[in-house]
Amino acid sequence: MRHMIDPLDFSVQEVENVLDLADSIAADPSRYREVCRYKKLATLFYEPSTRTRLSFEAAMLNLGGSVLGFSSADSSSASKGESIADTIRVISCYADICAIRHPKEGAPLRASMYSRIPVINAGDGGHQHPTQTLTDLLTIRRRLGRLQDFTIGLCGDLKFGRTVHSLIKSLSRYSGIRFILISPEELRVPDYVIREVLDANAIPYEEVTSLEDVMPQLDILYMTRVQKERFFNEEDYVRLKDTYILTEDKMKLAKEKMAVLHPLPRVNEITLPVDNDPRAAYFEQVQNGVYVRMALIMTLLGLADGGKETK
Ligand code: CP
Repeated sequence: MRHMIDPLDFSVQEVENVLDLADSIAADPSRYREVCRYKKLATLFYEPSTRTRLSFEAAMLNLGGSVLGFSSADSSSASKGESIADTIRVISCYADICAIRHPKEGAPLRASMYSRIPVINAGDGGHQHPTQTLTDLLTIRRRLGRLQDFTIGLCGDLKFGRTVHSLIKSLSRYSGIRFILISPEELRVPDYVIREVLDANAIPYEEVTSLEDVMPQLDILYMTRVQKERFFNEEDYVRLKDTYILTEDKMKLAKEKMAVLHPLPRVNEITLPVDNDPRAAYFEQVQNGVYVRMALIMTLLGLADGGKETK
């Protein structure tokens, strides 16, 4: 039985297979509408979500399966003190696969140790968010036609942004990737990511504070929200939240084919007129998130083979 807890749980080839399958699904979704008939997905969300929970649910429904679950810890027996280990033992009796979002780093990993069904990490604290990364990879591959040889600027809250940590980890396996890490001093990429991922793999990167200065170099700009919910005090959040705001004027500094990604939700960091720029790819990401999660569910349930479905 396989789980998806960390972006490196799948090999580069396995990731490619999931992306290929997602492309096949996007080309003809109707071919896949019975693949998960009689299968059930449980979504256990101990933290708020719009995209991840609903795209997992849409993915399973698109595959002909069913969904059950909860959308906050308050509406589950976690509020009575039930452990994640006991919860997953119980959920294993109700569903065939589950997606867990939890504020505690490592909670989905712990769940996977007690689970009889595949567990997908749908975001754990400020740590990892591997299915957002699959979404990002699919969007990059569709936009650039490749997953190697490009410069990516990651901008905003690089300290608490779990999507950033997972994307860096995942892209570290492709050749010719150069990272430009754009953040205020207080929100830099955690040391462990720099040490264990970038330095350990001799991947070129630079840490800067000015978005405008590096904009002309970028093939991908990955904007992120300052993660209010992870701050210890409101004052720091208010001081840092609007450090980077992508505007039409700043877009004039960028390459003609640069793609702007954002995992969403957006607060202020991309102004609305940028949405009309053909380089804005963040709503495409949302659509790709459904296809890639359909592909992942099929893969973890053993219903896909080498990027091609085995109906
Ligand atoms: N990108 C993402 O994780 O969005 P949600 O928090 O809405 O799931």
